[in-house]
Amino acid sequence: MIIGALHEKNNAEKRILLSLETVKKLSKEKLTILFAKGYGLNSNISDQELIDSGATIETEENILKKSDVVLKISLEKSDEIELLKNGANIVLNNFDKKNLEILKNLKNKNINIFSLDFLPRITRAQSMDILSSQANLAGYRSVIDSSYEFNRAVPMMMTAAGTVTPAKFFIIGAGVAGLQAIATAKRLGGVVSATDVRLASKEQVESLGGKFVFVEDMENLETAGGYAKEASEDFKKKQEELLKETVKKQDIIICTALIPGKKAPRIITEEMVLSMKPGSIICDLAAAQGGNSAFSEPDKIVEKNGIKIIGYTNFASRISETASNLLAKNIYNFIDLIYDKENKTIKIDKEDEIIKSVLMNGDSQ
Ligand code: NAI
Repeated sequence: MIIGALHEKNNAEKRILLSLETVKKLSKEKLTILFAKGYGLNSNISDQELIDSGATIETEENILKKSDVVLKISLEKSDEIELLKNGANIVLNNFDKKNLEILKNLKNKNINIFSLDFLPRITRAQSMDILSSQANLAGYRSVIDSSYEFNRAVPMMMTAAGTVTPAKFFIIGAGVAGLQAIATAKRLGGVVSATDVRLASKEQVESLGGKFVFVEDMENLETAGGYAKEASEDFKKKQEELLKETVKKQDIIICTALIPGKKAPRIITEEMVLSMKPGSIICDLAAAQGGNSAFSEPDKIVEKNGIKIIGYTNFASRISETASNLLAKNIYNFIDLIYDKENKTIKIDKEDEIIKSVLMNGDSQ
């Protein structure tokens, strides 16, 4: 069986889906790994290291023609998927379900698309959970990027010239990214508080040493699946009142609030942004989904009254070596699920809860 790894069409994407460790493991299982020239360079892996680990260099065209499983972060219209052989499989990080044109084309050739961003948050899927592995790194990197743009010190320092007060961080959304942002800000010496609409997050925030800020007597907006649901107008008003007072006292705000399948909730208003001190930072990890903060723009740093609003949309790619290593492990664990070792072929159990969720051309989609 042949697994092929291709370059992304989007040059801003620095992550890859193989690591030296996973190439070695897959080769040991007698799988053939093909990769395009320079595939690992953005994650500090040379072609020679990949070859030494058991992979083979090939042209993009041959990879498409020969592979049983093609690995990519995302699938673009410009990808030459018509070159794929009948019955091939594509394993992706993310797929836009509205891209019906791709789905229609692939159906004719009996090609499966598996998109791991639709994995269910169940225990059995944890080792493949790319959303968690990447959100965790995004939370870390957002604090590093924000501290870099912040031209004051983060930790408290007692010097002969006087005391430097610690920076105040406020984290909005205490999911996977938010919790890692809290932990990172604490490690840097910041004073950290956080908010969320799921009551379960209170204990998690406090266990990391953060102060939990929340709307009094609030309803718990957690779904059975552990995600947040959309807040009522009444809740939004109360949250706005609370945050008006909180936001203006902060130095760095990290926004991570998302509601699956919906536009990101707008939490920081223009008035709140402008109430902050010049030099303050807002880092909006939800910029690609419409933004939690006023003024945030995808992939830009916008400056208003000396306040910087960071809208990078792919924080994990900004720490590509670590992100690729974790992604490669997630992908390896998914391949393990669909690879029939005895018969050396792909075997897809369409009744499996994980497969049902990630198979984009399955009956449930
Ligand atoms: P997410 O990326 O969908 O959202 C981030 C955070 O924003 C969530 O904590 C959400 O409650 C919060 N949020 C949404 N609207 C908000 C608002 N208006 N104001 C303030 N906060 C708001 O969530 P993520 O990080 O993917 O985690 C979702 C849940 O899944 C968490 O409970 C997490 O612990 C759980 N999880 C479970 C896993 C498992 O395998 N069992 C693996 C990973 C996460």
